[in-house]
Formats: sequence, structure tokens, C-alpha cells
Amino acid sequence: MYQYNDFDEAFVRERVAQFSAQVQRRIDGSLTEDEFKPLRLMNGLYLQLHAYMLRVAVPYGTLNGRQMRQLAHIARTYDKGYGHFTTRQNIQFNWPKLKDVPQILSDLADVEMHAIQTSGNTIRNVTADHFAGAAKDEIADPRPYAELLRQWSTDHPEFQFLPRKFKIAVSGSTHDRAVVRAHDIGLEIVEKDGERGFRVLIGGGLGRTPIIGKVAREFLPEADLLPYCEAIVSVYNLLGRRDNKYKARIKITVHETGLEEISRMIEERFSQIRPAFTGVDQQLLGQIKDAFSAPDYVAKDDDAFQIAYDNDPLFRAWVDTNVTDHVRDDHAIVSISIKTPGQTPGDATAEQMVAMAELAESFGYDELRISHEQNVILPHVARADLPEVHAALRDVGLAAANIGLISDIIACPGMDYCALATARSIPVAQDIALRFEELKLAHDIGPLKIKISGCINACGHHHVGHIGILGLDRAGVENYQITLGGDGTEDAAIGTRTGPGFAYDEIVPAIERLLLAYLDLREGEDETFLQAYRRVGMEPFKAALYPEKEKVDAA
Ligand code: HEM
Ligand code: SF4
Repeated sequence: MYQYNDFDEAFVRERVAQFSAQVQRRIDGSLTEDEFKPLRLMNGLYLQLHAYMLRVAVPYGTLNGRQMRQLAHIARTYDKGYGHFTTRQNIQFNWPKLKDVPQILSDLADVEMHAIQTSGNTIRNVTADHFAGAAKDEIADPRPYAELLRQWSTDHPEFQFLPRKFKIAVSGSTHDRAVVRAHDIGLEIVEKDGERGFRVLIGGGLGRTPIIGKVAREFLPEADLLPYCEAIVSVYNLLGRRDNKYKARIKITVHETGLEEISRMIEERFSQIRPAFTGVDQQLLGQIKDAFSAPDYVAKDDDAFQIAYDNDPLFRAWVDTNVTDHVRDDHAIVSISIKTPGQTPGDATAEQMVAMAELAESFGYDELRISHEQNVILPHVARADLPEVHAALRDVGLAAANIGLISDIIACPGMDYCALATARSIPVAQDIALRFEELKLAHDIGPLKIKISGCINACGHHHVGHIGILGLDRAGVENYQITLGGDGTEDAAIGTRTGPGFAYDEIVPAIERLLLAYLDLREGEDETFLQAYRRVGMEPFKAALYPEKEKVDAA
């Protein structure tokens, strides 16, 4: 894992001191809330519906045990005993008191963490595949590139006041687990004639105008990464619309300028700045790569695993859903579900965080990841240790065997916390998860991604959910629109609206009708919901969703 050098350490400490003084001036009244706002936003501090919210960066979702323990300490000491893992691999604390924020930032700095550029119109936390370094289908670990981009973009003098926020994701595998096509810049590691490079996508994004990213460069040599990204952001910085915040993201710039013209401008800018990159970045990349070398794996006999798998049905169910093959046969990737049905998706208590830290330290070579699907990953666990890991997770209520199934729902904070929300999203996720627990249909239904946002901003990724749910406000009443067929992988697609929305108490029955229709029409158990939708299209699902309308049409 990357470790701070003296520069990083001094930089983060300096920011803590600077922001501490700003908080002090807000508390003593010498700064108004309006004056304080841009300062707090540079340090991840939002004002939400009920309180301040602090968003802490987890670079490319990678943490060690000590860092996770510190997050637990912060949750326990300054918050209400829990934290919320987000779709951008970060963690949010929903209830910090303003007076405590400087101390929280100082505690974070003690473990090489911070909240810089987790808000504001800057380059945000660079995200990456949560299975990085462990996945069987990996071409190369994306994290060294993400770290290089983090260092380049942090406090970059030219890019502190972009037209709008800017998000970059990197994937190093053939399967995209980082939703790169819904990012301002999406980077996919590829190899061409034995040379490593990137397919570069630009202009993807969700929000009120969802757009799938477009290929700007089919193959960018590895050594050109920083100058090319700098060229993209620099062209966007000049061209991006500052007159209308709804048209300010690069996806609109690409759309309005045209892919061909903006690519030409990027290439032109690239050729201007390329000579300034004389190779220091590549030396740095070399050092960063060393920091991400694979752990010293310990080979273990996996008899204990086989015995538990053959004899313990709970363990077997958990392995079948939550454990993924590792690049080494004697190891496995464990996805810890933070989606126990009935709980808030993504919320973990301090006790659970400590338990996960202990597992990482005892069985996981001290590594943890946060996934964009709001779960926590132990990327390297010897198969022999899986029974012990499972038992420890059960003790703290983290053994839900539902990764990738219906109750593994992404939901944004919605009306429970967010000042922009037009509807609740967390309770909808909880109700769906509990209803399908009751029906015991999760395994029959199989792989399914439901994603819920509490307003048009789409923080819950609903556009790329196989089933997307968007909560809106219709004359003071919550109304939920359903979209079908969205996909956040390498086959990315934006979902299509089914028709009129549903009231809060109608949404769970509507999802139930939809899924019963799927079970009825699928060609076999192996045909997933998304495959069935792609085969039969919208109509049969519409018929299930709006039976009354069908009757009227038939009359
Ligand atoms: C404090 C509460 C939040 C506020 C005020 C907020 C605000 C926004 C806004 C205004 C947008 C639309 C941006 C645009 O299209 O230009 C957006 C998009 C987004 N936010 Fe949030 N958000 C909040 C919480 C979250 C949380 C908790 C997550 C992660 C779980 C998140 C992740 C995202 C993502 C993934 C998008 C869409 C992707 C994109 O940027 O196009 N946000 N957010
Ligand atoms: S989608 Fe809307 S309600 Fe949900 S967190 Fe984003 S801004 Fe808030």
C-alpha cells in the first residue's frame, strides 16, 4: 500500500491547521456561513438536512486495519457510533459537530487520511476496481495509476475551480467493476502489441443528464497518462459552461462541442504540454508500483475449508455468494455485505469497523477495500481461513450472504440526510430487502442490481441499475419512477423509464410484480433479469407493472 512521504505528511498537516483556523473564525462569528462555505467545501464538509456531514476520502477504496480502526474511533467519539460507506468508495460521517471537525481531521492525518477534494469543483477521489491486485481477470493493478493521478490532482493549482466537479475511475480488468463509463474520465488498462496503455473514455456521467462515456483514445501509452489527463481537464476548464451549473459537467461540454472537435482540441493541448513531462512522473510511478506489490502470500492447506463447506449450510451459502476466486487458487476475495436486510445500505457501526480491521490484520494481509456498491472487501484471504472469517463476521452481524442479489441495493442518503432530496431512498431499500427476505426469492431471482436515488442527481446510480428507482416529489407527495435495463459494467447502458411513477407504499408491490413476471418469462434459471430484459424488451414488464392500464387498453 502507498505510504505518505514527508511532502504528503506536511501537506495534510498544513491543511488541518489552516482549516482549524477557519473553523475557529466561523465559530467566533468572524466568518459568515456564506463566507465559510467555499472553505469547508474544500475540506469535505457539507451542511446537510440536519447537521454537518464530513466526507472522508478513501483513495481508490484502499484501507489498512489501522485506518479502519481510526474511522471506528471517529464514529464512536465524534459521531453517533457509525459511518456510511458511499458509492465513490468514501466514508461519510453524518453527525459531526463543527467544533470537533479540526480534531477529526487531525485524527485522520495520524493515519494518512484526509477529506481534501471530497467536495467542491475539483478532481474528486480517484476510484478503482475494489478487487484490484486480487482479481483473476486483471491485466494490471489500477491502483498505482490511481495514486499517480491522486498526487497529480491534489491541490493542482490550475484545477481548483473547475466549471464543476470532476470524477476519474480506473479499471485494470476485462470486467469493469468501477463503472468507468459513468465518469468524467474513465480509464481502462489495455495491452496492445505487448505494450501497456489505456483506453480513455470521456464525458460519462449520471445526474440529471445521464450519458455513457465516449472513447477519446483507443490506446494511450502508459507514459502519456498524466499529460493526456491534464490536456482533457485543461480543455474542459476553458470550455466548460460556467453559466449554468446543470450544463457544467464535461459530459455536456463533449455533447455540445462534439467528440471529434473536443478530441482534436485535447490532442492539440496534449502536444503542447507533453514535452514538459520529462519523466519524473514515470520515476514516481515506478516507486508507487513497488508500494503496491502483492503481499507475501502464505500457502495453507485448505482441508478446514472443505470440511466447513461440506457440513455447514450457512457457511456454504455465504461462500457461494460472497466469496470470489482470487488470482491464487489457495486464496479468495471476500466481500463483506454491509447490506444486511433491514439495515441502512452502507452503514457500519464502530464495532463492525473494528471487527473488519481485526480480520484484515489477522487473515487479510492488512488490506481492506470499500466497493462502489457500498460493501467492504478483504481482497486476500487464504481459503483455509474462510471458516474463521465467516464466524467472526457472524458475531458482528456482517455475514449476510447476499452479494449481487436483490438485497445488495445501492441507495443514496435521500430524505433521511440530504438537503437536496425529493424522496426517501434508504427506507425503500430496506423495505424491498425485507420483503424479498420474507418471500425467500432472492436466490431464485439470482444476480440483480437495484439502485435507488432520492433525487434527480443520481448519487445512487439508479440510471445504471438493472432496476433503477428514482424518488421524486410530485406536489408534495413522494413518487418513484422505475427504469429497467441499466448496466454499470463494460456493457454500460442507461435504463429506460417504464412509465408513470409509484407512490411510496406502491413501490415494493410494483417491484414484486416486476420480478414475478421475470421469473415467469425467463428461459431458464441461468437467464438473469438483465438478460431476460434484453431479450424480451420492456412490454411484458410494463404489463406486470401497470395491470390496470392493460385492462383499460383491452376494453
Ligand atoms: C450531502 C449529500 C449529497 C449531495 C448534496 C450531493 C450532491 C450531488 C449532486 C448535486 C450531484 C449531481 C452532479 C451533477 O450532475 O453535476 C451528485 C451526483 C452524484 N453523487 Fe452526490 N451528493 C450527496 C451525497 C452523495 C453520496 C452519499 C454519494 C455516494 C453514495 C454520492 C455520489 C454521487 C454520484 C455517484 C453522483 C453521480 C455521478 C456523477 O457525478 O455524474 N453523493 N451529487
Ligand atoms: S441523489 Fe439526491 S437525494 Fe440522493 S444523495 Fe444525491 S443529492 Fe441527495
